[in-house]
Amino acid sequence: MTNRFNVKDKVVLITGGSRGLGRAMSLAFAAEGAKVVVASRKVAACEALANEIRNSGGEAMALECHVGKWDTLEKVIDAVVAAYGRIDVLINNAGMSPVAPSLLETTEALVDKILDINLKGPLRLTALAATQMAGTGGGAVINISSLAAQRPAPITTAYSAAKAGLNALTAAAAQEFAPVGVRVNCIVCGTFDTDAAAAMVGNADILPHIVEPIALQRIGNPEEVVGAALYFASDASSYTTGACLTIDGGVRP
Ligand SMILES: NC(=O)c1ccc[n+]([C@@H]2O[C@H](COP(=O)([O-])OP(=O)(O)OC[C@H]3O[C@@H](n4cnc5c(N)ncnc54)[C@H](OP(=O)(O)O)[C@@H]3O)[C@@H](O)[C@H]2O)c1
Repeated sequence: MTNRFNVKDKVVLITGGSRGLGRAMSLAFAAEGAKVVVASRKVAACEALANEIRNSGGEAMALECHVGKWDTLEKVIDAVVAAYGRIDVLINNAGMSPVAPSLLETTEALVDKILDINLKGPLRLTALAATQMAGTGGGAVINISSLAAQRPAPITTAYSAAKAGLNALTAAAAQEFAPVGVRVNCIVCGTFDTDAAAAMVGNADILPHIVEPIALQRIGNPEEVVGAALYFASDASSYTTGACLTIDGGVRP
């Protein structure tokens, strides 16, 4: 029987691929036979993971990439195509979620940084990658969003707005690129045990408040995002585009 989740030999670019959810997805796609491009600002960390993948018999390369620098992103896509001849899957995973004391104390510089990394970078990479994919028969874009988009909190207003924008980008880009065979979907994450969440998760006073409304009564392990990513990257989701799939352990409505 055909494995509709097959991603073997697909070229998969994962921004923020070196740590956290990105690392889990890099390892999982490589284990499934994909050619993984691990991209982040600190290329040494990407190289270390790419080496780990190659040492386990997988295929991977490291790529320096700052998703907040719009003008550099064309070179990122070009580098993937130069190495592997194509790009099949883009995972817009890199993000940052700084806590701001209040809206009035949120500076323009901070808002710009949050929007640049969580929204503008993914928008630009989606445009460039989908255009490239269109020339090779299609592909898939997966945006990594946050429950903060749907349940905004005052301490993360700009982040929530950026991720809500990412959800809207998913819907709009799905419409724009469907005619050329590119599907665009989104994974909406609850709380996962990564560096980004460490300050909250590591705080014994805060953790119970995070866990309390979660049906499964725990936060997620990074590996638990992988199934959804493989689904959106593969033919298993061939009739799905513009969708947002929430993975949050069942947070109470
Ligand atoms: N963890 C959660 O609870 C949670 C919840 C909801 C949504 N999310 C979303 O999930 C995604 C991954 O988060 P995570 O928790 O895995 O974060 P993480 O553990 O902090 O890892 C972030 C990754 O992104 C890279 N990165 C950061 N800024 C970048 C930039 N400007 N350009 C390129 N790469 C950059 C980092 O590497 P370098 O430092 O080398 O750049 C690292 O590989 C984010 O979009 C986040 O908003 C996470």
